[in-house]
Amino acid sequence: MKGILEAAIANPWAALRTVLDGPLHPGGEEATGELLDRAGVTEGTRLVDVGCGAGESLGVARARGADAVGVDRNPAGDGTIRGEMTRLPFADETVEVVLAECTVCLADDRERALAEMSRILEPGGRLALSDVVVDGELPALPEPIVRSLCLRNSRSREETVTELEAAGFTVGELRDHREELMAMRDQVGERVDYERLLGLLGERGGRLLDGIETVETAVEEGSVGYVSLVARVEDEDI
Ligand SMILES: C[S@@+](CC[C@H](N)C(=O)[O-])C[C@H]1O[C@@H](n2cnc3c(N)ncnc32)[C@H](O)[C@@H]1O
Repeated sequence: MKGILEAAIANPWAALRTVLDGPLHPGGEEATGELLDRAGVTEGTRLVDVGCGAGESLGVARARGADAVGVDRNPAGDGTIRGEMTRLPFADETVEVVLAECTVCLADDRERALAEMSRILEPGGRLALSDVVVDGELPALPEPIVRSLCLRNSRSREETVTELEAAGFTVGELRDHREELMAMRDQVGERVDYERLLGLLGERGGRLLDGIETVETAVEEGSVGYVSLVARVEDEDI
């Protein structure tokens, strides 16, 4: 049992994927569908899902007829290729929509990742982004929690908009997904008795449980959140 736990801590997304039914972001496929609507993804839209994971969102995009490809550091599933978000394997101005769900928060060089997304988008192209946001100073947390909840490289709502503008995007309405984030937490809590499991790890498990509680409070208070937005690369002809 301890071995399984250690594996889950080392690769939290694989573990989470076995617990959740769909994609690894708050709101699941419904939230993806809504974001694709806002980005105008329809039949034939050329779309790249950056950090596509197991490709669930690709399925949502393809179901509406989009011509969708996924890129991930650890690709899985049909139509996914290996690549880094800071060096996207696509030519300049060849894509209509970049989808990036719970991905930019993992970039060590966010500026570079956003510049790459902007580079591959054609004029008038859209970045459909949803991501973790952190307002203010986070308390000290155990490293596995920071990593699995994508907190290390997250920014505040305001900083996220500012860095997108600096990368040449015009940013649309920012929507908050606090309810979906809490529902995701509840779903994991209902399916995994993590208090008992982490209890098996002794003091270390206790520190992880304290960390989870700290993050839950931060989510309830709104200093850790999840947002979505559509940002547009200006069309030079307009
Ligand atoms: C939290 S998961 C989100 C997966 C998917 N977008 C979803 O919402 O279900 C983050 C994904 O980003 C990928 N990833 C992390 N760093 C990356 C990088 N530098 N370049 C490409 N993919 C990366 C991970 O392998 C993982 O599949």
